[in-house]
Amino acid sequence: MKLTDEEQEMLDGEQGPGVQKAIEIVVALGTIYGAEQLVPVSSVQVSGVSYKNLGEAGIEFLTEWADAGARVRVPTTLNPAGMDLLRWEEIGFPEDFARRQQEVIAAFVRMAIEPTCTCTPYLTGNLPAFGDHIAWGESSAVSYANSVIGARTNREGGPSALAAAISGRTAVFGLHLDRNRMATHRIDVACPVESVADFGALGCMVGRIVKNRVPYFVGIQSKGMEVLKALGAAMAATGAVGLYHIEDVTPEARLGDMQGDKIEAVTIESLDEGYEGLNGDDNTVDFVSVGCPHASLAEVQKVVDLIGERELTATLWVTTSRQVRAEAERLGLVARIEATGGHVVSDTCLVVAPVEHFGFKTLATNSGKGATYAPGHCGLNVRYGSLEQCIEAAVNGRWDA
Ligand code: F3S
Repeated sequence: MKLTDEEQEMLDGEQGPGVQKAIEIVVALGTIYGAEQLVPVSSVQVSGVSYKNLGEAGIEFLTEWADAGARVRVPTTLNPAGMDLLRWEEIGFPEDFARRQQEVIAAFVRMAIEPTCTCTPYLTGNLPAFGDHIAWGESSAVSYANSVIGARTNREGGPSALAAAISGRTAVFGLHLDRNRMATHRIDVACPVESVADFGALGCMVGRIVKNRVPYFVGIQSKGMEVLKALGAAMAATGAVGLYHIEDVTPEARLGDMQGDKIEAVTIESLDEGYEGLNGDDNTVDFVSVGCPHASLAEVQKVVDLIGERELTATLWVTTSRQVRAEAERLGLVARIEATGGHVVSDTCLVVAPVEHFGFKTLATNSGKGATYAPGHCGLNVRYGSLEQCIEAAVNGRWDA
C-alpha cells in the first residue's frame, strides 16, 4: 500500500502510540481488503457506545487508547449510548449500569469526541457533502450517508471508525470505489409503499434478498428523510446493505451503471411477508418505542398529534437525539408527551438500552430495524405496524391488527 510521508510518520510512531495504533488498524484493514492507498476522511461516526454491548473489556480498550494520548483529528460524533445521559434516573435506568456508561462516555470525551449519542448525526450537524470520504459506524447512518447524501463510507465497526477518527484516514476499498457503488439488483416495487412501517417492511424483505449488495428500486413514489432512514435501517438489519439507489430520488441512481454483466431482478408485489415476518401474536402491549432510527422533529410532532389528550397505558419511549429533543421541548411537544405518561428519551434507543431491566414483555414499534433486533437483543415479543397502530397500543395497552 502506498502511504504519504505523514501516514508513514504515524505508522512509525512519530505522532505517539495512540495515533500509531489507529493507523495500524486502518492499514491492516486496507491490506486485508486489497486497498492501494488511504484517503483523508471529513467526518466519523463512532458506534459501539453502549455499555450493554461494550462491557468491561470495552471500557478497558477505550481507556487504554485515551491514556495513550489518542485524540480525534476530524469532526467525530457518537452513536447512541445505553441510557439517556441526562435523565437516566428519572426514566429508571439502573445506577450501576449508569456509572459504567458514564465511564465509557468519559473515555470518548477524553479523545475529543462530542458525546452526541445519536444514530442520525446527519440531522444534528454531522452532515457530509456529496462525494466526501467518511468513516461511519452505525449501519442505518452508513446507509443514509451513502445512499441519500452520496458520501462514501464502508460499514465501519467501533474500533475501525475510532481508528479513522484518530488517524484522519480510511483505506480506499469497498464503497469508497465507484465500481462497488453500482447496482447489483433491480427491485421493482409493484405495491403501495407509503408509511415508515411500509418502508421498514420493504427494507426487511429486500435486505434478506440482496444481503450485502446494492439494490436499485423502481416504482417508489413516497420520499422524505423519515421513510428513507427507515428503509436503509431495515435493509442493514436483515441484510448488510450499505448503499441503495431509488430511481429519481437518490443522487447516484443510474440503472445503466451496474456491477457485472447481469443485474438480478426482483418484483415486490406485496409487503405482507415483511409485516408477517416481524409480527408475533401477543396482543397485550406494555412497551411502545418509536424513533429507530432516532426520530425527527416531524415524527415527534406526529406522536403528539396522534395521542391528543389521551393518557397512556403502556410505557412509551420516543427516542431521538438531544438536539431534536431540545427543539421539541421549545415547542412544548415534550411536555405534551410527558403529560400523557410517555417519555422523550435521548442518547439511547430500545436496542442498545438495557430494556430487560424494565421487565417489559411485548414491544410495539413501527421500526423494521427495531422489530428485527428486539427479540434477540432485548428478549421482547414484538408487534409491528404503523405509527397510528403503535400509538393506539400505547393508549390501550392492546394491539389491534
Ligand atoms: Fe438507531 Fe438504535 Fe435504531 S441506534 S437505528 S435507534 S437500533
